Amino acid sequence: MTDVIGGQESQSSRYRQIAEQIKQAIHTGTLPPDSRLPSVRTLATQYNVSLTTALKTLRTLEDEHYAVARPKSGFFVAPRLQEKHSLAVINEQPRNIAPLDEQTELHLAMLGSDCRVRLDLANGDSALYPVKKIGLLMRQMGYSKPALLGNTVKGTGYALLKTEIARRAVDYGCNISADDILITNGCIEAISLSLRATLKPGDIVAVESPCYFVLLQMLHNLNLRVIEVEAGQEGYVNVEKLTGLFRRKAVQAFLTICNINNPLGKSIPNEQKAYIARQADENDVVIVEDDIFGDTAFGERRPFPMRAFSPNAILCSGFSKTVAPGMRIGWVHSVNYMRKIASLKYTSTMGTSMLSQAAIAELLRSGGYDAHLRKLRRELASQITKMRQAVLQEFPAGTRVSEPEGGYVLWVEMPLKALNVRSLFLKARNAGIGIAPGHIFATDHRFDHCFRLNAGFGWNAEVEQAIRQLAQWCQQSLTDTQD
Ligand SMILES: Cc1ncc(COP(=O)(O)O)c(C=O)c1O
Repeated sequence: MTDVIGGQESQSSRYRQIAEQIKQAIHTGTLPPDSRLPSVRTLATQYNVSLTTALKTLRTLEDEHYAVARPKSGFFVAPRLQEKHSLAVINEQPRNIAPLDEQTELHLAMLGSDCRVRLDLANGDSALYPVKKIGLLMRQMGYSKPALLGNTVKGTGYALLKTEIARRAVDYGCNISADDILITNGCIEAISLSLRATLKPGDIVAVESPCYFVLLQMLHNLNLRVIEVEAGQEGYVNVEKLTGLFRRKAVQAFLTICNINNPLGKSIPNEQKAYIARQADENDVVIVEDDIFGDTAFGERRPFPMRAFSPNAILCSGFSKTVAPGMRIGWVHSVNYMRKIASLKYTSTMGTSMLSQAAIAELLRSGGYDAHLRKLRRELASQITKMRQAVLQEFPAGTRVSEPEGGYVLWVEMPLKALNVRSLFLKARNAGIGIAPGHIFATDHRFDHCFRLNAGFGWNAEVEQAIRQLAQWCQQSLTDTQD
């Protein structure tokens, strides 16, 4: 979370920087709940700013519910942050994941049905993808290589596609053999196979929190338990807490979206990835990584996966977010578990459509993929920026919004307790607006004041109006909690 709404000044304002430092100290516990914050005068002297700026810093912290002003005593860390803080401290008791509640079912049903304003998914309009080119390639290849359709699917995938995936992996720090790749029906199958190959029912998996809800439900269905490790201020998992779990042998695996996380949109920096990978190896923790958004990173360099730092990490990815969501082409790479993964694949879905694989292989081989990716990233970055600006402008003071480094989604966080996301979800649904409600990203209530928005379907009057409408409902909810 980088931007908190409220106030006219730019992000770079001095008072914001100081407020961020204080928030950091609150989050890490250096400034515990109820402790006294520096006075206006002390702050002004310490940071070499005017009294007005110092006061504005404290008022900002107050507006954002980090601080409370006590008459004649000054400013104190808000007591109710204790509650928030305690949520940020991981609960080391592994949790069973509840089956889908009615609302999550509704959410998933909505994902599968038509919806007027599509802010609930994590992908985009078909215009974003090279579907015409892929369609043409499939037609040509269907004619010229009838065996692609006429033969039984054998082995672990289309050889050329596996070669192309291995070739591209060198660019992001992974020297992998095509023999250690298996093509799946989407990235989700790749993750499911990896977890089944490496874990047994009852095992405990560390996940980033908030956690993409499909992964939570997958863990539930595999009878695995979970420990949720919340993200720190930087927007990625708290590395010390995570590796502490490894060292205490509290988990058997770490399931991570370490690049362009869904929903927070951040990537774990390389040094931290290297550290996590080393700690996992030293403590026999299996890393399963979901790198489906890696290729959508907006920056100059594509972020490295965990696999770049350990040969033991199992890397799962695919083309649903970059080429064509409807093709369902994913893949998994593992050095240690490929035989087990292949056997599980054979006895579940047996194989993956060869024609689809061949078309994607040709797109990768011809260089068309890189040109397409450059365009896709540009468009996504522009769409995310527009939606983010609209949220910053329309939503009530105290709302926070993520600043993604890639991908499709924004994570919106209202002030604690100011939103019942379940009722917002229902209101929105009745108005034909899909959102992903925060509570489905956790095993408890910690994200009941949050929701995820998808910017992938472009920016137009209908989306703009939907954002305005959501903002009004959130404002109403805020006013009701303050009354
Ligand atoms: C993090 C993450 N992993 C995997 C998937 C699904 O991948 P696939 O459609 O290739 O199975 C999604 C879809 O939204 C996702 O957000």
